Amino acid sequence: MKLIDGKKIAEEIKSNLAKEMAAIIDAGENPPHLSAILVGNDPASETYVASKEKACKSIGFTSSVYRLPEDITQEKLIEVIDFLNNDDEVNGFIVQLPLPKHIDTDYVLQKINPEKDVDGFHPVNIGRMVLGLPAYLPATPAGIMMLLEKMNIKTEGKHCVVVGRSNIVGTPVSLLMSRKSNPGNSTVTLCHSKTENLEEICKQADILIVAIGIPGFIKENMVKKGAVVIDVGIHRIEDESEKGYHLMGDVDYDRVASKCSYITPVPGGVGPMTIIGLLLNTLKSYRREIYT
Ligand code: GUN
Repeated sequence: MKLIDGKKIAEEIKSNLAKEMAAIIDAGENPPHLSAILVGNDPASETYVASKEKACKSIGFTSSVYRLPEDITQEKLIEVIDFLNNDDEVNGFIVQLPLPKHIDTDYVLQKINPEKDVDGFHPVNIGRMVLGLPAYLPATPAGIMMLLEKMNIKTEGKHCVVVGRSNIVGTPVSLLMSRKSNPGNSTVTLCHSKTENLEEICKQADILIVAIGIPGFIKENMVKKGAVVIDVGIHRIEDESEKGYHLMGDVDYDRVASKCSYITPVPGGVGPMTIIGLLLNTLKSYRREIYT
């Protein structure tokens, strides 16, 4: 079994980006600028936004965060989005999800200028991705594709089973894996909560991508010997340790790992690559590579 060390791969990419940014700054130019809108005080969202800021700082990107109160109206939130749409200093921005219940997330995401939608959540970017046109790819699926590429894992002709059909991970990664590309060219099965015979289908996977949001969901009996397992889940499990918790993915790692040819650990697998996807999209916006 080989570990897919997302942390190490992400550090290598960041170190190359940092060198590139140093050259831009030395030349007297402004580096790329990524903004985030954070509504309310959801602790997980706070952590995500803090790690995005830290990553920006570590490579020399400018970053800014717009913190808005939990009870902000949808209209006011859209005003902030409009402000960032029109701010020439900002190359890309994200609206951290989830948003409070009184806000219509789909409606709000459509107010982001697709040219600055570095999360790749706007219908225009999703449509462009489906058609294989240049698009900002959503960060987690892009991160998964980068891991497969960096590890030289053969995907062509393989059966890829994706568990979970979210707009952010399952649906886009299933599309990317079936695309005429490398990585890609897989035969894809997209499983979800209504799938019958889930265990049997997972067991047929050469590549199993799990984004179901349930800790330890994928058990040993659901994985074929020699499979490549990509675990997107990350859950805090309370325990008696000093920290009071440990992190766990959607895969029962301790029992599954020995059956795999490759597996991503949690933490340190897909997670660090997600931020890389966002940084690279911001750089693409800065260089006007997508919307030319
Ligand atoms: N919440 C959880 N993951 C994400 C993400 O990739 N982008 C945004 N904006 N919010 C999230």
